[in-house]
Amino acid sequence: MAVFPTAGSRRPRLYILVAGLFLAVVGLSLVGFHDNTRKAVVSKWDDHMRPGRPSAIHAVNETKLHVLIPANNPDVNLCKTLLTSSALGYPDPTLLAWGETYDTDYLLGGGSHLAKISAVLKWLQETTDAADDDLVVMMDAYDIWFQLRPEVLIERYYATNEDANEGLLQRLGTAVEKEGLKQTIIFGSGKRCAPNQVQTIGCFPIPDSPLPHDLYGNNTDSNLGRNLWYSFRQRWLNSGFIMGPKADLRALFKRAAEKATETERDMEYDDGSHGSDFMYHGSDQALFAVIFGEQEYQREVMRRRHYGMADKIRDRAGVPAPNHIYSTLVDDPLNPSFHHQPGKPKASKPDEFGIGLDYFSDFIQQTVNSEEDSKYIVYEDNIPEQVEQNRETFDCPSRVTGQLPNDVLRYGSPLKNIRTDESGSNADRWDHVPLYTNLCLNRIPIMIHHNGDKAAREYQWENMWVQRHARSVVGAMVHEGVDATGGAHLPDRGYLPWTELCPPEYDQEIFR
Ligand SMILES: *[C@@H]1O[C@H](CO)[C@@H](O)[C@H](O)[C@H]1NC(C)=O
Ligand SMILES: *[C@@H]1O[C@H](CO)[C@@H](O)[C@H](O)[C@H]1NC(C)=O
Repeated sequence: MAVFPTAGSRRPRLYILVAGLFLAVVGLSLVGFHDNTRKAVVSKWDDHMRPGRPSAIHAVNETKLHVLIPANNPDVNLCKTLLTSSALGYPDPTLLAWGETYDTDYLLGGGSHLAKISAVLKWLQETTDAADDDLVVMMDAYDIWFQLRPEVLIERYYATNEDANEGLLQRLGTAVEKEGLKQTIIFGSGKRCAPNQVQTIGCFPIPDSPLPHDLYGNNTDSNLGRNLWYSFRQRWLNSGFIMGPKADLRALFKRAAEKATETERDMEYDDGSHGSDFMYHGSDQALFAVIFGEQEYQREVMRRRHYGMADKIRDRAGVPAPNHIYSTLVDDPLNPSFHHQPGKPKASKPDEFGIGLDYFSDFIQQTVNSEEDSKYIVYEDNIPEQVEQNRETFDCPSRVTGQLPNDVLRYGSPLKNIRTDESGSNADRWDHVPLYTNLCLNRIPIMIHHNGDKAAREYQWENMWVQRHARSVVGAMVHEGVDATGGAHLPDRGYLPWTELCPPEYDQEIFR
């Protein structure tokens, strides 16, 4: 049956229908016109529950990737990072600040956290081995393992930024077009604004998390749970993982180095505990949190500056909804009612660095305050059975569907390429191997960051599917006494082979 009438005599009814539709559309947009304030950022939760869509624009095979690891001394935990990275086909990383020593007594790690900034900046400014639009990953050295391939990392980088940029348009409206705002740099995320203090610029201007408000059921964002922080949604920057184009990272690290010099002594607006003295004792994360806070402060300034008719009509860029940092109400992100460090509205966008966060743990799972959010799941086995084991009242409801994301499946298991000696090896399919999975978010992160329980670096090592094939992986790296891959570059073009970085005394722990 035809939906639209075709006979001449019935034409008037078509006109009435069209006119009616027109009025309905106008009416709806007027309703939107009056209802555009206090609109929360749109969370594309349905899309996010089906992770793994490819980027609409970018070809993964045309992107070059570089991995930077600030690390000053050898350690068996660095070898675990290198082994997982090499097995999955990542380019050999470059070690920065190798061999340096740190002994400033009032700074974290004797000053090693700040050395991370200067060493990365130097590489970003001086290397000729990378083009400005090559992607660069900067990561912590001694507590991160890889579990998914570099192709997936690159795909997620593009897809995540595309999503985030749609979100920015919804949140900031005309300002995005007028100021050319876009996300190009991704940091890890976590549940606490730390070490920064709530009343400072590193915390209060940060937008609310886009994660759903029922992530931990009715306990979400409360102090109930395995500890005081467990039920919070990820909202805050973690600097153990930073990814972006070389040129954009160079601008960011230049600012970070300037800040490190500027704030050499005390931070302003300490709460009286002196917790923030010496730049929170020389924490690089504290500096990046300040840079992110200043960016977000100015983004809100720009939203207000450019808000206009186009935003009203399109029902976007509304006043941010009030939110809480722990139990403190942020009623206005530029000027909250509590005693706070004042910000300064600026013209143009000098504080804009294109920084966004990995809220959904697509890239990296921080384990601190989150250990029980994730488990090693074998996807071909009974999912509910694996998920439910040892779950407790306050743990998040599982959202695991049991389906492997398309981006993981698109690229086969790298072990197909490694000559496995183990008989009956079945690590050639992703659903055969345990994959560290965030149950709350239905996510398989590319990396695991053991910044919570450090002992997990020992007791979870055997859970890593790569560990079980460690001998074959190393066998493939080192042929007839010649180390082909699996080691690390130095910025002066030197190369440290695996056998030198990871001497035989580490074998027992690595190979088990
Ligand atoms: C990358 O992949 C696309 C699509 O599969 C293909 O058209 C293109 O030629 C490839 N580019 C390179 C450099 O291999
Ligand atoms: C969560 O809160 C809602 C609304 O107050 C209530 O109806 C529901 O029963 C609560 N759920 C649980 C599991 O307590």
